Amino acid sequence: MTKKFPPGKQSNAHLSELAQRIEAPPISWLMDQKLKYPDLISLAAGFTDGPSLPVEEVQKIFKSITRTKKRSMEILQYGVGAGRDLLRDLTASNTAKLDEQDANNPAYHSDRILITHGSQQFLYLLSEALFEKNDIVILEAPTYFVYLGMLQSFGVQSRSIPMKSDGMDIEHLKATLESLKKSGRLSSVKLLYLVSYFQNPTGYSTSYAKKKAILKLVRSYEKHAGHPIYILEDAAYRELKFPATPEQPSMLSLPHARDRVIYSSTYSKPFATGIRVGYGFVPEPLRTILLRIKGNHDFGTANLLQAVVEEALRSGLYSGHVHQLQAEYAKKSEWMCQSIRKYFSSQVRWNHPSGGLYVWAQAPDHVSTGPDSRLFKACLKERVMYVPGSYTYGEDLTPNKPDQSMRISYGSASRSEIQKGIKRLGAALHAAE
Ligand SMILES: Cc1ncc(COP(=O)(O)O)c(C=O)c1O
Repeated sequence: MTKKFPPGKQSNAHLSELAQRIEAPPISWLMDQKLKYPDLISLAAGFTDGPSLPVEEVQKIFKSITRTKKRSMEILQYGVGAGRDLLRDLTASNTAKLDEQDANNPAYHSDRILITHGSQQFLYLLSEALFEKNDIVILEAPTYFVYLGMLQSFGVQSRSIPMKSDGMDIEHLKATLESLKKSGRLSSVKLLYLVSYFQNPTGYSTSYAKKKAILKLVRSYEKHAGHPIYILEDAAYRELKFPATPEQPSMLSLPHARDRVIYSSTYSKPFATGIRVGYGFVPEPLRTILLRIKGNHDFGTANLLQAVVEEALRSGLYSGHVHQLQAEYAKKSEWMCQSIRKYFSSQVRWNHPSGGLYVWAQAPDHVSTGPDSRLFKACLKERVMYVPGSYTYGEDLTPNKPDQSMRISYGSASRSEIQKGIKRLGAALHAAE
């Protein structure tokens, strides 16, 4: 019989450095709260809207792609490591179209694309390709908290740049790069990461002018770094723009971006999170390396699920679905904003989203929103939950991470849950003010 060790009693010294470093992701703790209190209204989840999922579309697609034995056999077999050819072609033309670029522009060539198991896998593959312990990533503050967990597990340090409503503060970025140069640490800077559309968690988008300025500035420090400093534009929420919001081109469309900008996005948010198909445009030689690493992970993203997305794009079902979804989220965001106006005091500052899934709210200075705060506990008692803002700041800001903000999601909650949830949150905030 194998001997069982009680969990937590065993030393981890025999495990890898990563295994010894890795911490429990905050999201599991938030999910545990939902299990503990089943009547809890979670405005914390990053889930998308259930009733809007493309159920009939996917039924139709499955029927169509399994109509002939030959086709069925092909999609039920392993596929190519980089992803299906047609899916990569359609992804390339869709992205060029969003950027209002000619499909022949080499920056959008399908040979630059790698299809991954969600864009989350793309972020991970890239981390494996780029980082050694104590390397540095420049981040927006706040930023996508699951990415912060990934960096923590790789032992990567962060340098946080405050977010403004049109993207990161350029003066602060300049000062940070300058101070890294002075301290001789520029050679450890591998990447600048931005979530450029309807950012998770703030809902802010980076303007095109700022994208240009960031690229120019970062490139000007490469000589001192002694190697390329890549810019990762994570566009996960791009296609969740509300109908009235103008389209902004990505960094791929900028001159001199092709060999430095990595662009990632996903079919999770705008189609179905359960399908887990994401992608990245990557310059060489990095793409070849990512492909090799991906080969070690899984020899390629699930061929069947790629075929579903491919058929959705090819048939036009995808674009029809995205249009409906954009209108649906605009409506849901409006319900949340109306409730916030009604139930939050004027002391709470918040932004009106123009896409994505989140409202970002700031409590008054003396009110902490952290997981151990009176407010968070009062919210659990009232059976409502948000994502504490402190989760979304890089480790370099410790111990002074901003602690007054909340990410509040209208993604998966129904209209009545949004209204009830905001009423409960408003009551807890009033009591804490
Ligand atoms: C900013 C951002 N990037 C990437 C992802 C990963 O999404 P997926 O793996 O579903 O493509 C998420 C998920 O919430 C996200 O918020």
